[in-house]
Amino acid sequence: MIPNAVQEIIRWQTPLSYMRRTVTEDTELFGHRLKKHDMLALWYISANRDESVFDDADRIIVDRPNARRHLSFGYGIHRCVGARVAELQLVTLLEELAKRRLRVNPVAEPVRVLASFVHGYKHLQVELTRY
Ligand code: HEM
Repeated sequence: MIPNAVQEIIRWQTPLSYMRRTVTEDTELFGHRLKKHDMLALWYISANRDESVFDDADRIIVDRPNARRHLSFGYGIHRCVGARVAELQLVTLLEELAKRRLRVNPVAEPVRVLASFVHGYKHLQVELTRY
């Protein structure tokens, strides 16, 4: 279940909230007219909570059947080139924690990065316990 849980955690967390794109030609998208040179913000964090794609999207469901459909790594030719490395790191981390029967528990409110782009944490105090 760990590989799917990793997809679900990356969906739910969405470490980078959005990317910006520049329209290269006049076009229409979902009923909106777009002009050449318009700038668009692609809100991956919003897409990852789209209830028409992910049921009960605010919850982490580790065996969610379509967790892999998240857009946390972007889309198209600029899709994250490090996606496989990132996935591998997280799978390895969860596997090693499970081997040692260790659980990570937050013990204080996190301090978040004050930015709209990086949906990140500056400090997150935790303790490890065995189960
Ligand atoms: C969970 C971890 C990560 C997340 C959520 C993430 C997310 C993203 C996103 C959203 C983009 C932009 C996609 C777009 O333009 O639509 C991106 C691009 C990129 N990422 Fe990651 N990334 C992660 C880890 C990594 C790692 C570990 C590496 C390197 C080993 C990496 C290297 C890159 C590079 C080089 C690009 C630019 C690709 C391009 O413009 O063609 N990323 N990443």
